[in-house]
Amino acid sequence: MKILVTGGTGYIGSHTVVELQQSGYEVIIVDNLSNSYKSVVDNIERISGIRPVFEKFDLTDQKKTLDFFQKYSNIKGVIHFAAFKAVGESVQFPLKYYHNNLQSLVNLLNGMEQSKVANIVFSSSCTVYGQPDELPVTEQAPIKKAWSPYGHTKQISEVIIENTSKVNSTKAILLRYFNPIGAHESSLIGELPLGVPNNLVPFITQTAIGIRKELSVFGNDYNTHDGTAIRDYIHVVDLAKAHVIAIDRMINTENKKKIEIFNLGTGNGFSVLDVINSFEKVSGQKLNYNIVDRRPGDVEKVWADTRFANEVLGWKAEKTLDNMMLSAWNWELALKNK
Ligand code: UD1
Repeated sequence: MKILVTGGTGYIGSHTVVELQQSGYEVIIVDNLSNSYKSVVDNIERISGIRPVFEKFDLTDQKKTLDFFQKYSNIKGVIHFAAFKAVGESVQFPLKYYHNNLQSLVNLLNGMEQSKVANIVFSSSCTVYGQPDELPVTEQAPIKKAWSPYGHTKQISEVIIENTSKVNSTKAILLRYFNPIGAHESSLIGELPLGVPNNLVPFITQTAIGIRKELSVFGNDYNTHDGTAIRDYIHVVDLAKAHVIAIDRMINTENKKKIEIFNLGTGNGFSVLDVINSFEKVSGQKLNYNIVDRRPGDVEKVWADTRFANEVLGWKAEKTLDNMMLSAWNWELALKNK
């Protein structure tokens, strides 16, 4: 059974490719390598023993996308990761984000329609909720005005898929990720941020290994147990496994509606200081950090109500925060020794 994984050499994509292969799926990766490396394909093969098919092109190119669907018949489902994801950059270059994230989705949906591929799993984000009024946040929580063009592209993408499914055979599972962190236990794949990382965990591990001088903790005056902001961190392998379940569900026509939406988190909120403490404990490293002002655009606290995913998808995140931080540290150590 062939599955197309767009963005399959990226962070979440690569972990998902491995899980799909280990569940017996044949994977075709499409990636333009704008934020990842071809060598990820070799490392996927090292883990699974199977080399995925790799096609390098940009999904914003309509002709190339339609040609791809001509070339590969019999694709059973698509998992669409390929997108830009840097919140700050999206504020600076909104059109770059709207063009890349939306044009690629439209081309993909056209290609799927042309080839009669019905099933798509889409990478959405908890950012669609903004600062929710009630915690934990359920899938029914209202979609708030987006805080960044990046977040807006996720909201619009969800609507594009929903509207498309009303007029053709498209069926979708929209997965709203909370904060994916950590790396594969093999330390062969993980997050590879280009330049200075924006996200907390790569910044922590790069600081501990000496690439960065110190971590800035953005704000300690939030209304939380220690004053620092709270997120629902989820291990990337737990997240990857949910994609396999979502694809299985659609292929086995177990989905109850044409569009289903699930939160993917652990249901636990941890503060920035909780994350630092866990890192120091599992790595044995003392982290150099400093409290600075809040980062504009950050919400105070958000964590998932995971009951719908647990009960309906039959999926539950298993790894603890310590597991996540240890795997992130092992990955940073492996990168150093490359
Ligand atoms: C953001 C987006 C999310 C997106 C993700 C991927 C929002 C609300 N969230 O998550 O949709 O999928 O990025 O790029 O837009 N922190 C520090 N110091 C640092 C870095 C982060 O203290 O150097 C803190 C932040 O203030 C935050 C927490 O760590 O409280 C997590 O930050 P980060 O890893 O950047 O993720 P989000 O902003 O939650």
